[in-house]
Amino acid sequence: MVTVGIIGAGRIGQVHMTSISTRVPNAKIKYVADPYMDEKKEAFAKAHGVEKVTKDYREVLADKDVDAVLICSSTDTHSQISLEAIAAGKHVFCEKPIDHDVAKI
Ligand SMILES: NC(=O)c1ccc[n+]([C@@H]2O[C@H](COP(=O)([O-])OP(=O)(O)OC[C@H]3O[C@@H](n4cnc5c(N)ncnc54)[C@H](O)[C@@H]3O)[C@@H](O)[C@H]2O)c1
Repeated sequence: MVTVGIIGAGRIGQVHMTSISTRVPNAKIKYVADPYMDEKKEAFAKAHGVEKVTKDYREVLADKDVDAVLICSSTDTHSQISLEAIAAGKHVFCEKPIDHDVAKI
């Protein structure tokens, strides 16, 4: 079983929640993180078998049970969250485009 966290619960995050929960039997979505988590986003996540929702993606990165993260947040957050996820030892799938803030890299 692969345990994943989804970072960003907007349009594409919801596409991935649907895909994983309906088509990937050996994956479990332990978290969905979004700073603008609300009742609607939470209800969508729970309906797709997500165990926990949080407003802080660092909670996902700190959880040793999480093998991999899907970074589905706003473009300007991609490099920062990717680098933190790599440093935390997670496998990373990052949505396109990668932002090009070289100061962060
Ligand atoms: N691969 C594709 O075909 C494809 C398709 C659509 C979108 N995308 C990319 O996916 C990303 C998201 O697009 P979208 O259409 O889902 O946008 P969206 O605005 O619907 O969703 C983005 C979500 O990220 C959240 N977010 C912002 N900062 C965050 C943070 N620090 N931590 C966690 N969540 C955070 C927002 O609150 C929002 O809910 C964009 O980079 C977009 O270019 C790729």
